[in-house]
Amino acid sequence: MKERETLRINGLGHLEIGGCDTVDLARKYGTPLYVMDEAYIRKVARGYTEIMTSGSGDGLICFASKAFSVKAIYDICKSEGLGSDVVSGCELLTALDGGMDADKIYFHGNNKSPFELELAIKNGVHAIVVDSFFEMDVIESLCASSGKKIKVLVRVNPGIDAHTHHFIQTTRVDSKFGFSIADGTAIEAIKSVAQRPHIEFIGIHCHIGSQIFELKPFELAVEKMTDFILTIKKETGLKVAELNMGGGYGVTYTEEDKPLKPEEYVKAIVAKLNECIDVKEIEKPRLILEPGRSIVGEAGITLYTVGAIKEIKGIKKYVSVDGGMFENPRYALYEAKYEAVLAGRMRDEKTETVTVAGKCCESGDMLVVDAKLPCARSGDLMAVLTTGAYNYSMASNYNRNPVPPVVLVNDGKSDYIVKPQTYEDIMSRDVYPFWSQRNK
Ligand code: LLP
Repeated sequence: MKERETLRINGLGHLEIGGCDTVDLARKYGTPLYVMDEAYIRKVARGYTEIMTSGSGDGLICFASKAFSVKAIYDICKSEGLGSDVVSGCELLTALDGGMDADKIYFHGNNKSPFELELAIKNGVHAIVVDSFFEMDVIESLCASSGKKIKVLVRVNPGIDAHTHHFIQTTRVDSKFGFSIADGTAIEAIKSVAQRPHIEFIGIHCHIGSQIFELKPFELAVEKMTDFILTIKKETGLKVAELNMGGGYGVTYTEEDKPLKPEEYVKAIVAKLNECIDVKEIEKPRLILEPGRSIVGEAGITLYTVGAIKEIKGIKKYVSVDGGMFENPRYALYEAKYEAVLAGRMRDEKTETVTVAGKCCESGDMLVVDAKLPCARSGDLMAVLTTGAYNYSMASNYNRNPVPPVVLVNDGKSDYIVKPQTYEDIMSRDVYPFWSQRNK
C-alpha cells in the first residue's frame, strides 16, 4: 500500500483514513462500508482547477458523475470550482440537489429519453452533448414548444485507440458513442444542428476511454479535434467556442499501475491545445475536461468483515467477506484488479496468497484474486483500496443485498453521506400483495 498523508498505518498498526482508525469506523458503522477521504478529493480537484485557471486559461473541470454520484460530492466539487457532467435524469437532480450550478452542468448520453431531455432543458443546464440525429429532433421539438433555445456540443469520435480494456474504450470506430469524424457523419451532424432554430451549436466533445496511463492518446486526440475545428470552420463557418475532451486519467489500483500525477494529464492537454492553436491558427476554444475516476478513485476504500475461510487443498484458499459483486462489480465485469489489506493487522507479515470472494451466489463473485495477506481469520477487518470510483455508483441489489452506506472522513471526523439501505427499502418497491388483491 502506498501511504499518503490521509491514508496511513497508525501507531496501533491499523489502517487510518482521513484521521479515522478503520477499526473504529467498522465498529461504529458496521461493514461492508464505503469510506471516502474528503481531503484527498479536494486536493485532486484543487490541483486540476489551478491548472485550468492559471495563465490566460478560463477552462473548466467537470466531475464525471458516473464515477460517484451522491449529493456530497457535488457540494465538494462546487466549492473547489468544478462543474459536472451527468448522464441521466437522476444524476442531474442529484447534482442540482447537491448544490451544483445548472450552468456548469453538461448532459451526456447516447440515448437520453425525451423526459430526461425535457428535465435538462427545464433546469437550464449549460449544454446538452448531442449524440444522435434522433436526439436533435427531440430537443428541437421540445424547445420549439416551450419557446426555449438550448446550447449543444456535438459528441464526436476521433477514432483514437487508447490501449485500455476493450469494454471501456469508447472511441473505437465501432463505438456506440459519438459521430465519427472519419466517415463524415460528425460534420453532417454539426450541419444538421446548425439548421435547427432552437439549438445553438457551441462546441465539440470527445472521450477516448478510461484508466489511461499514457499522455500520447490524449495529445493525439487534441490533434484530431483541432483538425476537426478547422474542418468545421471551412465547411460551415461556425465557431467552436468549447472543446470538451472528456476524462480518462488512470489511477493506482495495484502496484502494477503507474499513472502520472492527476494534474500531469491536464497540463499535457493544455500544452498540446495551445500548440495546436498556434500552428493551425484557430481561435482558442474554452477547454472543458471531465475526470471522474482520478478525483474519487483513490479517495475511497471499502471495509469488510472476513467470514468463511475455505481451503481447497493444494489449489486455492478462499477468504470470503460480507460484500461482493453487488457493491463492487468490477472484477465480475472487467476482471479488475485491487489491493486488499487486513486493516487491523497492517504490520503483520503477508504470508499467504488467497482469493477474496464475495457472498453472492455466483462463481465469478470475487473482489481480489491472488491477494497477498497475513493469514486471515474469521472476524478480521479487511479493506480493499481505490474503490471510490465506479463502486457505489455501479452497485446493485443482486441477491437482495442492500447497498452499503457511504461515510465521509476528514480530519479525524466521520459521518454518513449515504445512509444504509435497509431490507425494508428494498422490499418496499415490491407491490405484490396489492397486485394480487387487484386481480382477485
Ligand atoms: N466523460 C465521459 C463522456 C465519459 O464517458 C466518462 C467515462 C468520463 C468522462 C469519465 O472518465 P474517467 O475520468 O472516470 O475515466 N465503469 C467503468 C468506467 C466507465 C467509464 C465510462 N465513461 C469502470 O468501472 O472502469
